[in-house]
Amino acid sequence: MWKIDTTYREEFQSTFERLYDKMAVLKQSRPLPSIALSKIKEQLSIEWTYNSNSIEGNTLTLRETQMVLQEGITVKGKSLREHFEAKNHEKAINYLFSIVKDDYELRCIDILSIHGLILNLIEEDFAGRIRNGGVRITGANFIPPNANKVSDLLDELIDYVNTNPLDLNDIELATIFHHKLVWIHPFFDGNGRTVRLVMNLLLMRKGFPPAIILNTDRKKYYEALNLANNGNYQKLMLLMCQALERTLNIYLSSLPDNDYDFQEISSIVNEPGSFYGQEYISLLARQGKIDAHKEGRNWYTTKKAIQDYIDNRQRKRNIY
Ligand SMILES: Nc1ncnc2c1ncn2[C@@H]1O[C@H](COP(=O)(O)OP(=O)(O)O)[C@@H](O)[C@H]1O
Ligand SMILES: [Mg+2]
Repeated sequence: MWKIDTTYREEFQSTFERLYDKMAVLKQSRPLPSIALSKIKEQLSIEWTYNSNSIEGNTLTLRETQMVLQEGITVKGKSLREHFEAKNHEKAINYLFSIVKDDYELRCIDILSIHGLILNLIEEDFAGRIRNGGVRITGANFIPPNANKVSDLLDELIDYVNTNPLDLNDIELATIFHHKLVWIHPFFDGNGRTVRLVMNLLLMRKGFPPAIILNTDRKKYYEALNLANNGNYQKLMLLMCQALERTLNIYLSSLPDNDYDFQEISSIVNEPGSFYGQEYISLLARQGKIDAHKEGRNWYTTKKAIQDYIDNRQRKRNIY
């Protein structure tokens, strides 16, 4: 049985609530305007492919990934393998969308199929196959379990996700699944790309959009995984919530008559009458204390999110 330290929970309560509220708004406004929707979905698929592959070492840029996927162009100077990785990842996303539904239950065969698509034409010998030997993860503070344990551990993890004994919410469940799967490291290669797809099945089946871990957060992501290996889920949970908030915000901003006005923090604080400085607001954003998300290296928030934070603090002061 997996022991999970849930001491992160208290700190994340309001963030979880906000993410669920946003998802509910999104669900209520369905059907969304279809042209806008399919555009966002397409753009997110490209971003997802670009970010997940570049975390793994693929050197195609976002624009190049887009050209390969949308226009079928071959990029000079980039290997065949990198082109396959982009196309394979897109196929895996499409597969994900084809199997996701409200009552989706995680199955081992789906994890293997997704892994098979990821390494198709690249590593034919072990695409879709559990490893039969040892592996090491560069920079990790542990060595993944022996190959003869992998199959049982994987079954146990899938059972854990489907029975959810601690009654974790969907975001927690996806985060813990994400970490435990890369900890088991069931495959010789492609573990990261596979788990960043499969964890989104767990979110998407509940009506969330996919959470995309950004390449610019690669270092943070690896540090968070090392902390999780020691049982501390705080940082990984924050990264997951922020990734999810970003895609939720992208969808919500596309709704007709929405009142979201996301701006770069630097432009908000430079307006006359702005109360706090850029450093402070950026800190609140990074810590997940205000409704904010990251694009590339910049943080975006709304004036309302800052005001809500101030009001909330004021209220707390009045209570205590
Ligand atoms: N310290 C760590 N602890 C646990 N997992 C890690 C650690 N560092 C990296 N990982 C995971 O391992 C993945 C890399 O494994 P790999 O099989 O090469 O996957 P891929 O080829 O898709 O990147 C990373 O994307 C990450 O998810
Ligand atoms: Mg790899």
